[in-house]
Amino acid sequence: MKKIISINKKINHFKKNSIYVDGDKSLSIRFVLLSSLSQGKCIAINLLRSDDVMSIINCIKKLGIKIKLNKKKCEVVGKGLFGYKFKNDLILNAGNSGTAARLLCSVLTNKNNWVKITGDHSLKKRDMKRIIKPLKKFGIKFKNKTGKLPVLVQAPKIFKPINFTENLGSAQCKSAMMLAALKADGRTKLKCLPSRNHTEIMFKNVLKVPIKIKKVGKYDLIEIEGLKKFKPFNYQIPGDISSASFFIVLTLLSKKGFLTIKNVNINSSRIGIIKILNQMGAKIKFTNKSNYKGERIADIFVKANKNLRAIKLNPKFNSTAIDEFLLIFLVASTCKGTSIFTNLSELNKKESKRLDWGIKILRMLNISVKKIKNDGIKIQGKPNLKLNKSYVIKNFLKDHRVFMVSTIAALTLGGNWKIYNPESFKTSFPTFLQILDSLGAKIK
Ligand code: S3P
Repeated sequence: MKKIISINKKINHFKKNSIYVDGDKSLSIRFVLLSSLSQGKCIAINLLRSDDVMSIINCIKKLGIKIKLNKKKCEVVGKGLFGYKFKNDLILNAGNSGTAARLLCSVLTNKNNWVKITGDHSLKKRDMKRIIKPLKKFGIKFKNKTGKLPVLVQAPKIFKPINFTENLGSAQCKSAMMLAALKADGRTKLKCLPSRNHTEIMFKNVLKVPIKIKKVGKYDLIEIEGLKKFKPFNYQIPGDISSASFFIVLTLLSKKGFLTIKNVNINSSRIGIIKILNQMGAKIKFTNKSNYKGERIADIFVKANKNLRAIKLNPKFNSTAIDEFLLIFLVASTCKGTSIFTNLSELNKKESKRLDWGIKILRMLNISVKKIKNDGIKIQGKPNLKLNKSYVIKNFLKDHRVFMVSTIAALTLGGNWKIYNPESFKTSFPTFLQILDSLGAKIK
């Protein structure tokens, strides 16, 4: 793999008008974890084959679970909620994946030895206190002073049920508690700010776990009854809306492109980007809608649009577009008027400080941007923005989304770009450059 890519030419029209993107990352990681805890053989079709998913697969294999990968299928032989094996001095490396590291802390049953959970340079900078605090209430023990990886974890066989209020709107945090609740001796009651709800949907529709969900004010009340076992299951993973979003924005900002992205998960807790872009005037449409085990699936149709408007975003949409803000900032920089986004402190807690990176990239493009109250951003858009200078993107902690958004900016706005660490997109979207190539993008 090259150390750097160069882009010196915009993409004006596409060589084809329909694509598939890779399988959903959140669903793929949940499949691997939950199948390993089931009572037998589970098969996933279209599991994402990205570095993050390989990290969770390798960790689960180290816990004595058999996982076979072939071209289309992933087969996991679950050994039940208490079936993992723990070697002495076991180290589980979650690589770049926050979801893998945080969820792993809640599924262990190693009462006689400590397991070390660690990650790469970027993951070691991320907050683990958010899950350590509630997981300790379940009875899980942690040795950790910094609130960051590495952490040492020791867990009893059966957990105590807990009551907890989750105030970050983090699906990783909520899901870690939900997984722990499976092994609790009684009913766990969680009050959570909204975040993606794939774990709830899988518990209810796939694992048939006794779960109750109720909306109370701005919170979701989730009650889960602990259980001893659940049956194996099969799962067909749809395309990832977060990956599709790069092609949605590529098309919107292209000169005259149009594109259908097929078979994408359009779960309402994930489609903030579509709602936001449509509020900006994009007219993105869903066709061929269907339902799969509680998840909504559709084809997404999008075409180039020169008349996008600025937006003052209601922060209630933030959690539904949490991984897409770099793309949304890029679109806002090409719109007439001033866009304002607030309450985005979580963005600086991702694989890199994404709020700061958004500001840095837009300033590099000579867009007027102001940080507001440390967790917001005000963008003065420039309609018909055309670039003709040289731009270098590097030292971004190999954040896959910084790499991919820079690539989309280069292909739609012009200029001469050099973007470092192309290996980074393999974290979440290994066919990203291949799809761009098939559409006719010139990338060296
Ligand atoms: C994820 C949840 C989100 C998201 C991440 C995947 C998940 O993080 O940013 O890419 O699969 O649960 P938070 O839940 O921490 O916001």
